[in-house]
Amino acid sequence: MHFNKICVLGLGYIGLPTASTFATHGIKVVGVDVNQQVVETLQNGEIHIHEPGLRTLVQAALKSGNLEICDHPEEADAFMIAVPTPFKQQAESDSLPANSYPLADLSYVTNAAEAIVPYLRRGNLVVLESTSPPRTTEDILVPILEKSGLKAGADFHLAYSPERVLPGQILRELIENARVIGGIDPASAQAGYDLYATFVRGEIIQTTATTAEMVKLMENTYRDVNIAIANEFARLAERFDIDVWEAIALANRHPRVEILRPGPGVGGHCISVDPWFLVEAAPDLTPLIHTARDVNDTQPAHVVERTRRAAGDLSGKHIAVLGLAYKPDVDDLRESPAIEVARLLIEAGAKVISYEPFKPDHQIPGLPAALSLEAALRGSDILAILVAHTTFKNLTPAEVAALTEARTVVDTVNIWNPALWEPAGFRISRLGVGSLDSGR
Ligand SMILES: NC(=O)c1ccc[n+]([C@@H]2O[C@H](COP(=O)([O-])OP(=O)(O)OC[C@H]3O[C@@H](n4cnc5c(N)ncnc54)[C@H](O)[C@@H]3O)[C@@H](O)[C@H]2O)c1
Repeated sequence: MHFNKICVLGLGYIGLPTASTFATHGIKVVGVDVNQQVVETLQNGEIHIHEPGLRTLVQAALKSGNLEICDHPEEADAFMIAVPTPFKQQAESDSLPANSYPLADLSYVTNAAEAIVPYLRRGNLVVLESTSPPRTTEDILVPILEKSGLKAGADFHLAYSPERVLPGQILRELIENARVIGGIDPASAQAGYDLYATFVRGEIIQTTATTAEMVKLMENTYRDVNIAIANEFARLAERFDIDVWEAIALANRHPRVEILRPGPGVGGHCISVDPWFLVEAAPDLTPLIHTARDVNDTQPAHVVERTRRAAGDLSGKHIAVLGLAYKPDVDDLRESPAIEVARLLIEAGAKVISYEPFKPDHQIPGLPAALSLEAALRGSDILAILVAHTTFKNLTPAEVAALTEARTVVDTVNIWNPALWEPAGFRISRLGVGSLDSGR
């Protein structure tokens, strides 16, 4: 199938790079977003998210004349949906019994599908890229899109293709990663293949829509469960007075073992969210997945307990929280465990100031933001390192000592080597090291 024009709904971390990459590969693209501010920002040649190389790519796409930014869809050969799939707001899940789980909010996906209906024509392709519960394409998208009077499969193609790009490296991975494309029938999978073949250099593998949905959820659930076990190992190491980082490095010398890194929890828009889609879809079959989520979700509380052991009563203590992003070197704060740690520290009576180098002017309610490292460190009693940003890794004891009197450091990501910092007078309490009682 040949594509002259496509319409991409949702211009965030996934949709914007995808739309721009199609445009720079010679396809006419209408990029659609319902957020007027996003539309205006992009129309002015600016971007609203941080991703290396994205500004240049978007500007090139706009300049080529192939990318147009709009607040509503238009007729096109293919429609691509890349809108959020978060949890439902608490109020909507309030009626749930205890020991329950968050529920997927598919309203963005259904709204986007509804918006396509008036423009859908015979022979078109619709691809869902948003991470979605199993059977969303078959059971939710088909009935909505068929309101057009056209029949899925017979009159238009419909496919699901998961996105696996790594924030920070989206532009390269979009092109180089292997891509799975699942169709509601083989012709739909083939149409999806033809579309992505425009720019994807990695292998493109065809399968069914539901398999493709499951692939994405299985990938992220696999990582979540493995991080949960690393976090449990860290807790065990503290109890048994060993260094979990050393133990993991030694265990990983086994040729068939690869334990991941513990940390302050699991965040981001994918790994901390997607496993719940499986739990919601089949609670009777997912006790391990549910438990792993609980372990990772309680890790921020563990970090706060660790901080208390290291620094005593937290009430009134000035704590500089270093890093709020959900992972190193990105500005993405969604579902970040670092924010939860900061919130729990405040609840424990600490006076918290946060510094996120990729979003120093964040507007998180109730969480004071420092615009610079200097401002964060000034007057602090305790430093809590919550994200392994390169800029934090590169700090030297001398630089930090010049900015603050604080010498107690809680390092949840193992980036300040005690052998270097302790001779300079710092007391480094690393997650997963030593016994809780000794507070080392
Ligand atoms: N960010 C990632 O690294 C990543 C990786 C893999 C998969 N995903 C999945 O991709 C999907 C999109 O994620 P994202 O990070 O790009 O989200 P995002 O929040 O960055 O962007 C989504 C955009 O969609 C817009 N939108 C909402 N409803 C719309 C509608 N009806 N029509 C048009 N636009 C609409 C929003 O205004 C927003 O700008 C999610 O399902 C996510 O789980 C994200």
